[in-house]
Amino acid sequence: MEFSVLTLPGDGIGIEVTREAIRVLQHICQKFGHKANLSEALLGGIAIHKTGSPFPAETEALCQQADATLMGAVGLPEFDNWPPEKRPERGLLGIRKTLGVYANLRPVRSYASLLDSSPLKNHLVDGVDMIIVRELTGGIYYGTPRGITEEGSGHRGTNTMTYTTEEIARVTRMSFELARNRRKKVTSVDKSNVLETSQLWRRVVVEVAKEYPDVELNHLLVDNCAMQLVLNPKQFDVVVMENMFGDILSDEGAVLAGSIGMLPSASIGTRKPNGYWVGLYEPVHGSAPDIAGQNKANPLGAIGSVAAMLEYSFGMKEEAAAVNKAMEAVLDSGRVTADLRPKGQPATTEQVGQAVCEAIG
Ligand code: IPM
Ligand code: MG
Repeated sequence: MEFSVLTLPGDGIGIEVTREAIRVLQHICQKFGHKANLSEALLGGIAIHKTGSPFPAETEALCQQADATLMGAVGLPEFDNWPPEKRPERGLLGIRKTLGVYANLRPVRSYASLLDSSPLKNHLVDGVDMIIVRELTGGIYYGTPRGITEEGSGHRGTNTMTYTTEEIARVTRMSFELARNRRKKVTSVDKSNVLETSQLWRRVVVEVAKEYPDVELNHLLVDNCAMQLVLNPKQFDVVVMENMFGDILSDEGAVLAGSIGMLPSASIGTRKPNGYWVGLYEPVHGSAPDIAGQNKANPLGAIGSVAAMLEYSFGMKEEAAAVNKAMEAVLDSGRVTADLRPKGQPATTEQVGQAVCEAIG
């Protein structure tokens, strides 16, 4: 198979982890006889520096043409005091919206060899296997009115959390479809004791659930969910929630996996004529400017995102499984980066990428 992949390394450690992800992608292609046509474009802070915009028109056109997009991370400290509409992060919001990838799948699982990397007790973490499904193109990230306006002698900041029936229904359906191929359990997270958007969310989820009588549904308030994630994480199979709740709880989920550097993600929404997903693939972690350029960052979140791309955008289950298996072998071998607190000398970003390729064979 021949396919095109647009890479958007972005900022900070995005650059070095994407390099290793591409190394693994190329290796898989070589081994399985595929051809990946790679191109690279600008997104985030680097795009602001070079073009003045965090999501240049050229990047927008390229991501629409590509068969899949692989992203690193965005965000740089020099933009910390810039208004939201000019910041690197706005580029990420733009590409998610442009591609219509409304469902962000963030799998969180434990690895036997990483149990001691988590600050939680082994027995709590061992066997964790869930997917956080984060609604990605709606809610408070995009709602209007928004902004900071003058008021009296001070100011007023405004953001709007808003959801339509359709926006809730489609991400809910995606979650139930996923659950059908797993342990058949969906947990919907909301704040329906306070927020109207959450009341609508719960109502729509209950309606959609009727289409899936074989899947168990339960509801958790978001504050309780935050607690349950560390108290009893094994109860979760598929956990669906609105955009900002998903942003927050997926970072918490990273504690279960041992490090946020471990978490991959796949953002999908519409299918191509061949049935595969239009997808944006990115590790969950940020640009980590404090360790950028030091060959220290964990590339496994980015490499896991390549596995997700192979599976969802190209239907290559065997290739995806080969990447995941190789990642586990590398973890078992102890050749891991500093974030995973290895017993000996930590491996570099590049060494981990190379080790995954070796393990693929
Ligand atoms: C994430 C990140 C982004 C988000 C930032 C960088 C805009 O935290 O993907 O979780 O909030 O969506
Ligand atoms: Mg986040």
